[in-house]
Amino acid sequence: MKLFLDTADISEITDLNRTGMVDGITTNPSLIAKSGRNIIQTIEEICAIVSGPVSAEVTATDYDGMMQEGRKLANISSNVTVKLPLTEDGLRACASLSADDIMVNVTLCFSAAQALLAAKAGASFISPFVGRLDDICSDGMNLISEIAEIYANYDFSTEILVASVRSVQDVVDAAIIGADVATIPPKILSQMFKHPLTDKGLADFMTDWKTTGQSIL
Ligand code: E4P
Repeated sequence: MKLFLDTADISEITDLNRTGMVDGITTNPSLIAKSGRNIIQTIEEICAIVSGPVSAEVTATDYDGMMQEGRKLANISSNVTVKLPLTEDGLRACASLSADDIMVNVTLCFSAAQALLAAKAGASFISPFVGRLDDICSDGMNLISEIAEIYANYDFSTEILVASVRSVQDVVDAAIIGADVATIPPKILSQMFKHPLTDKGLADFMTDWKTTGQSIL
């Protein structure tokens, strides 16, 4: 399973990229706003750090505007994935950009029907938002199962990119289903390394090791 970081924060990306676990990055207009920085510069800098797909989202909502913005974002670097909203115009732009070999991540997916349409439009990635569904007492992870089944039925190559992840358990549940990617906030990636029994076991080993008086080097 690939792990993307869901952030536009350059220092967090630089830090966590050192772990070797970061396969790509997703951003959105809210994350760019949170960074307080220029979108073009930020995406350029991220692409210089991470070689995997870097999602950069258009802000136009009409087909022509999405095409113009999408091409501009795609020109920043060969690993830019243009992020388009799951609307009629968004899927039309998805088909056009995908036909030009530009990777597209279709975002704001909340139903299996929408995911089916995104795959038919040739999306490289579909981003179902599990956390936002859970927030309204729906079952986000059930949507991932439905999409996985539909895509397998028809051998669609669109990758399922689980978005709006709220916990380590979300990542585990998505992996059990077999989702291709989870995009996760930096804090959750850091939490994934940790277990209290690892900390305790390591402390015990170190205590016992000291009693031997040995040194490996
Ligand atoms: C990623 O592509 C999405 O934009 C992101 O995961 C949304 O997460 P949120 O629901 O926590 O804002």
